[in-house]
Amino acid sequence: MEITYLRVSITDKCNLKCFYCRPDDMTFFDKEELLSFEEIAKFVKALTKYGLKSVRITGGEPLLRKGVEDLVRMISEIPQIKDIALTTNGITLSKHAYKLKKNGLNRVNISIDSLKPQLFYEITKGHLEDVLEGIRVAKDVGLNPIKVNAVVIKGLNEDEALDFVEFAREYGVEVRFIEMMPLGQGQIHWDLDMVKPLDLIKQNIEKKYGKLIPSNSIGSGAARVYEIPDLNVKIGFITPISNPFCDGCSKLRLTAEGNIKLCLRTDEHIPVKDVLRYGTEKELDEFIKYVLMEKERSNAQIQKSNYAFSECRRVMTSIGG
Ligand SMILES: C[S@@+](CC[C@H](N)C(=O)[O-])C[C@H]1O[C@@H](n2cnc3c(N)ncnc32)[C@H](O)[C@@H]1O
Ligand code: SF4
Repeated sequence: MEITYLRVSITDKCNLKCFYCRPDDMTFFDKEELLSFEEIAKFVKALTKYGLKSVRITGGEPLLRKGVEDLVRMISEIPQIKDIALTTNGITLSKHAYKLKKNGLNRVNISIDSLKPQLFYEITKGHLEDVLEGIRVAKDVGLNPIKVNAVVIKGLNEDEALDFVEFAREYGVEVRFIEMMPLGQGQIHWDLDMVKPLDLIKQNIEKKYGKLIPSNSIGSGAARVYEIPDLNVKIGFITPISNPFCDGCSKLRLTAEGNIKLCLRTDEHIPVKDVLRYGTEKELDEFIKYVLMEKERSNAQIQKSNYAFSECRRVMTSIGG
């Protein structure tokens, strides 16, 4: 099988504390436990033999890892990699955007769950204005497209649909609404009811702007993307619970401490650090063949289990969303 997309978490640390994502008493990996940038680049290169073209860097908060720009440069020097993206909370993006772009980053996804500064603070313990400044600088330096991800939280931000549309128009960004997943160890009691607000958001947008027109966008992955007629605005919906996109999934995740996660829905993982650190090129290649077989098996199993989420309680800050 082919693997076209790799999502790499480079740290489990974060400078925000989104209540649904991070527990209060989190312990972090020591620096020595994390994969080095050289090891990550080695893994990326080895996967290109099996179709890898697109890499997303995430965290925790990836901009907290010192030298993240160097990792971007190392990956961009691998000729088969055509697309490098970063998922960030945007808090320090204004300081990093120029060098990231210069070193080969193509695009960014920025998380904003509320456009109301007070509610944003209540959800994240951070300041919305810092993120908005990050978006402005990212635009100035030419990162494109910029996508803003909003996790829809029942009872908190589901009434902000039209504000997000206006925001998308004003800032020239694409907004994607994401269903809350039963992941992580944040302070949230997840139930299926948490997923319904996404329908409401779509209805509210259509009530005001008319029927949304199916569209597409660079690296849209699992998002269903629509265009709002006449506004030149794209809105996406990521629905891992109500309408998952698992068929033929060709994504892998690499955690900061060197585990391969075959799928976000399960806790199954395969440690890769030792073979990256001590193995020969041939051993790494054999290992990757084994991972691809396991990925096929895992895809088949998830289909059979009717896409049910397993009890995956791994903290999102360490697997990278
Ligand atoms: C784990 S964060 C890592 C990158 C960066 N810190 C950020 O917030 O963009 C990646 C994404 O996962 C989302 N996320 C975290 N926990 C989630 C959950 N339980 N359900 C859905 N999305 C979640 C976040 O909102 C964010 O957009
Ligand atoms: S969602 Fe991102 S910014 Fe928020 S706590 Fe998790 S890792 Fe940090």
